Amino acid sequence: MTTTTPHAAGELFAQALRYDNRPDPYPYYAQLRSEPVVCAQDGTWLVSGHREISLLLRDPRLSADRLNPLQQPVRKSLLMEDPPRHDQLRHLVVQHFVPRIMGMREHIDELVTGLLDAHTSERPGQLDVVADLAYPLPVTVICELLGVPREDESVFGGLARRLTRGLDPVNTQTEDELRELQQARAELVDYLEGLIARHGATPTDDLLSALMRDQGPEGSMDPVDLRVTLGLLMIAGHETTVNLIANGTLTLLRHPDALTRLRTDPDLATPMVEEVLRYDPPVQMSGRSTVADIDIAGVTIPKGARVRLLLAAGNRDPHRFSEPDRFVPDRRDNAHLGFGGGIHYCIGAGLARAEAQIALTALACRLRSPRLVADPPPYRENAVLRGPEHLLITFDRLSPAPVPTPVPTGSTATFGTSG
Ligand code: HEM
Repeated sequence: MTTTTPHAAGELFAQALRYDNRPDPYPYYAQLRSEPVVCAQDGTWLVSGHREISLLLRDPRLSADRLNPLQQPVRKSLLMEDPPRHDQLRHLVVQHFVPRIMGMREHIDELVTGLLDAHTSERPGQLDVVADLAYPLPVTVICELLGVPREDESVFGGLARRLTRGLDPVNTQTEDELRELQQARAELVDYLEGLIARHGATPTDDLLSALMRDQGPEGSMDPVDLRVTLGLLMIAGHETTVNLIANGTLTLLRHPDALTRLRTDPDLATPMVEEVLRYDPPVQMSGRSTVADIDIAGVTIPKGARVRLLLAAGNRDPHRFSEPDRFVPDRRDNAHLGFGGGIHYCIGAGLARAEAQIALTALACRLRSPRLVADPPPYRENAVLRGPEHLLITFDRLSPAPVPTPVPTGSTATFGTSG
């Protein structure tokens, strides 16, 4: 039986989305979880229980179509497609993406060393973890993988930032912001069309050239699919990993024991990054719509309804995790929802894990006595892809990078692509 009224559920969700509550939306998710599946007054179904989210992520009666005309592009990316089209596009991407990231740990390690050395010699004893490390690292990695020239990284990075606001619920955005989003989309289309044309003229060894060349059983991607897929990888590759590294650093600085343990035991990086993905996930929620009535948790979500799967709420569900509000760096049995699940499970999970494990290990090993300048730090406007805008820290000194920098061994499913 439902006890939370649609109005109360809508209010709790609005509180979780409010900018003032960006540093800590978790108490609102906890209240929502008293009713794991509930309808808000605007008709959106909010799902906050771990079990219910896991079931719905794998239920073919849910479509990845977000049913929101204002947030819909003309041609959808695989993230918003359903089978069979989703599976065809995903197969093409996975086939070329996964082999390219397999041997990247050493290169990521070099990039992290270079970024830390450069910034700490400019401003000794100070670092903005977002601007100096968490942001440039994934930008460089994804641009190199895709085949975006180094000189375009800042254009590309700027566009990705502007576009991610489009993932937030539309009623949290002003008209100016929505107009700005349209403008950013148009600029992205122009940029990507130019990039594809240049690659067509001079093919290279990157992912874009590989996708252009692929003549698989379903034929090659048409230019629009190519552009949309490239745009998706670019945004997903930039704007999520930055928050994983920043949320992870913030969590470690708030838990000095975990930071000390990571310094002496770099193998801890593997379970610890999983715990950050559970405890403070970069992607807080995802959207779906129903193509049939669905009975779940004692209620019926009707056909044609909009559904929000609150991944961050499921990650703190006491029915699934013991002491869910505690950060346990070596937590076992950590089936978090940070990368989603089912057929849309994150394609970049392995890459994101590797970047975060290496970056957090380097910070723990090299910075002596790091301290937060502001707690909480200022947060970005974005509610769905949530993380600090800046993360200023001070420290006593930077130790030289060990050769080679310790990287975790025994990584679990480091480059896996299924959930
Ligand atoms: C910490 C970093 C990341 C997080 C937390 C994250 C999270 C997610 C989540 C939750 C989904 C599922 C969305 C849904 O079910 O609606 C997803 C899908 C996806 N992610 Fe990631 N992601 C990260 C990094 C990356 C990277 C680095 C890439 C690629 C370069 C990437 C590419 C994708 C793609 C292509 C999909 C769509 C898969 C599909 O629809 O089949 N992600 N990601």
